[in-house]
Amino acid sequence: MTSENTLTDQAQQILIDNDRGGYTVPTAGLYPYQWNWDSAVAAFGFAQFDVERAWVELETLFQGQWADGMVPHILFHKNDPGYFPGPDVWACEGPIPSSGIIQPPIAATMARFVWEQDREMGQTRMGALYPKMLAWHNWIMRWRLHMGAVCTTHPWETGRDNAPDWDKTMARMDASDVGEYTRRDTAHVNSEDRPTKFDYDRYIKLVQLGRRLKWDQAAMMAESPFRVADPTMTFTTLRAARDLHAVGEALGKDVSQIAADIKRLEAGVSTLWNKELGGFDSRDVHSGEWAGCVSNASYLCWFAGVENPAMLARLRDVMERVPYPVPSNDPDAETFDVRRYWRGPTWAIVNMLIGLGLKDMGHEKEAQALAKKTADLIAEHGFAEYFDPFSGDAAGGGSFTWTAAVWLAWAGRD
Ligand code: GLC
Repeated sequence: MTSENTLTDQAQQILIDNDRGGYTVPTAGLYPYQWNWDSAVAAFGFAQFDVERAWVELETLFQGQWADGMVPHILFHKNDPGYFPGPDVWACEGPIPSSGIIQPPIAATMARFVWEQDREMGQTRMGALYPKMLAWHNWIMRWRLHMGAVCTTHPWETGRDNAPDWDKTMARMDASDVGEYTRRDTAHVNSEDRPTKFDYDRYIKLVQLGRRLKWDQAAMMAESPFRVADPTMTFTTLRAARDLHAVGEALGKDVSQIAADIKRLEAGVSTLWNKELGGFDSRDVHSGEWAGCVSNASYLCWFAGVENPAMLARLRDVMERVPYPVPSNDPDAETFDVRRYWRGPTWAIVNMLIGLGLKDMGHEKEAQALAKKTADLIAEHGFAEYFDPFSGDAAGGGSFTWTAAVWLAWAGRD
């Protein structure tokens, strides 16, 4: 095991090495562009040693914002043939070539953290970013709500690409006419760690649909077979709304609309409680059916400022049973797969969001234990994309931006 000091140096170096000039890539090769929530976390990491660079990361992300307020999940700054599906497949018309979907809107929360590092220095930067973040929030409130919960229109939007949450909805989709395409992800990393072809066909099918509908939200709402209200989108949107409210107040803005939105989203959270399962779950908006999944996103309730004793009991249990929590899927679930991406592995980024929430809500002991376990995982197994929750083995890409940022901003701090 390397000393913590060296790990901090290594983490900083990863952010510097993954810097492509104003934005970071998640990791060289596998993900050669700017990803939305990765970038927000990178800003939080940079803020620990270079606040100026942290602001630039967020500003570059918002340079890709569409005229209607949407902030894309990928910005294709420079074309890279090593990634599929690239800008030509998405065919979007934003200010920077991009994908046509979003990712969990944690940028406002991370921007607030960056601001807190140096309020004076960040005053103008925050003043300029605030209306843009608000426009994105308004876009989500306008287009993505179902009974107050926030919906995803593509598994990639949640950041939990192949989570079992989408299985039932995906199984109902016909992707037989998706056509020929060449995956690039499996050329970079072990295919056992990645989503299956069945899933991938449906991911591409949904991209083709969005493209045909010119990414028009009203048309997609009417036509897309994939619309799922989910804990990731709902909890991160609620948390972002709380942060926008606080920042708006500090900047002397009228925040009454955001206050009303917070109430709507809080009501939406209760529609994700699956009583039978005893956990926050995803629900298919078209069929009304529960996914039946307790994922690591289910534990983001505290991050959103929502208390829940049953979830706390579950968390304590999983933290005792699993050496490197929090697994992205319930270890007792039939769908649990120790290495396959979001169907079992532990992700440091989600751990950080859970841990920050626990601390905010007064669960200091659990927050500290989770930070310590995440720090051990990184110290023993490196800055990997994600990890086997039982052995701790590294999986996916290496030298990963968000794992390095999580070390700097949270896990490696004490
Ligand atoms: C994968 C992950 C997603 C992440 C992206 C870049 O698609 O599922 O959450 O943002 O990679 O790291």
